[in-house]
Amino acid sequence: MKILGIESSCDETAAAVVEDGRKVLSSVIATSLEEHKLYGGVVPEIASRRHAESISGVVSEVLEQANCTVDDIDAIAVTYAPGLIGSLLVGVNFAKGLALAADKPLVPVHHLRGHIASNYIDTELEPEFLCLVVSGGHSHIVLVKDYTEIEVIGKTRDDAAGEALDKAGRAMGLEYPGGVSIDKLSKEGNENAFEFTHPKVNDSLYDYSFSGLKTAVINIIHNANQKGGEINKADIAASFQKAVVDCLLEKLELAIENTGAKQVVIAGGVSANSKLRSEAEKLCKKHRISLSIPQLKYCGDNAAMIGAQGYFEYKKGVVADESLNAYATMPIDKINY
Ligand code: KG4
Ligand code: ZN
Repeated sequence: MKILGIESSCDETAAAVVEDGRKVLSSVIATSLEEHKLYGGVVPEIASRRHAESISGVVSEVLEQANCTVDDIDAIAVTYAPGLIGSLLVGVNFAKGLALAADKPLVPVHHLRGHIASNYIDTELEPEFLCLVVSGGHSHIVLVKDYTEIEVIGKTRDDAAGEALDKAGRAMGLEYPGGVSIDKLSKEGNENAFEFTHPKVNDSLYDYSFSGLKTAVINIIHNANQKGGEINKADIAASFQKAVVDCLLEKLELAIENTGAKQVVIAGGVSANSKLRSEAEKLCKKHRISLSIPQLKYCGDNAAMIGAQGYFEYKKGVVADESLNAYATMPIDKINY
């Protein structure tokens, strides 16, 4: 079964043709990232305009690369939540129009479920597994009981891990997105140069909090700047990255121990982080359980993951009509469309 996936929740306009949820026949991504770099973050108005300009060409190109036409497609899967509303609406409206014109089923896909599904691509991974979902907007520990059945075990009470990395990068004057810049710069730094207190989250074993860590690193940078002293950015980057990764994995380890999980999966843009990848490997080796991490090209936003999850949602009977709307927020476990 061939699914055409469409993704436009942030600044990537993406389309992909995916067979049976695991084989990517083609994947195309256009991004407006370079423009947003000027402003140190994604400007929603610019992102929506670029989606509107690019989406038609991106979809045509992806079909051509897969050597097929829309007639060969079994269903159209589209990210409908969560994300920037003006961005989501471009993908949703395009998918609705195409589904109506070509008389194809329309499958709404939750963006974070898509990130999880990036781990099905080119693998034989099957639920049940424990998954750490870490992106620019979300940090969750979830239990994936089945492809479309998800239980939230923990989540951030404030900032997402990616957001904290991006804001720290910005305070250091690094290029957006800060997470990527911090990962690169950390390789030259001493991760033990600065110590960060790990936040305590009341009444929860598995919830995260990153706003305190973010404020701590920003204070270090501002204090140093005010004193006009030399500050080793690489050391701060490496130490802060270590603190974020340690926090993420501390709670994940607790969840592994308490749920008896046999498989662990990492997903979302931050899963590209080299420190997170290597530390997660060590953690899973220590517990003698398997670890799945997406291929680097499927860590960030893409439509192959939407085509992959769309396949499993469609098989479960998830189909929308032309009244489908886009939503800026939507829980991962109780989806509504
Ligand atoms: O999943 P994603 O592409 O978009 C959202 O759904 O939010 O995630 C973007 C986030 C950004 O915060 C970015 O800084 C972070 O993923 N990111 C990284 C790395 N690559 C992307 N963070 C740390 N290390 C990386 N290598
Ligand atoms: Zn994402």
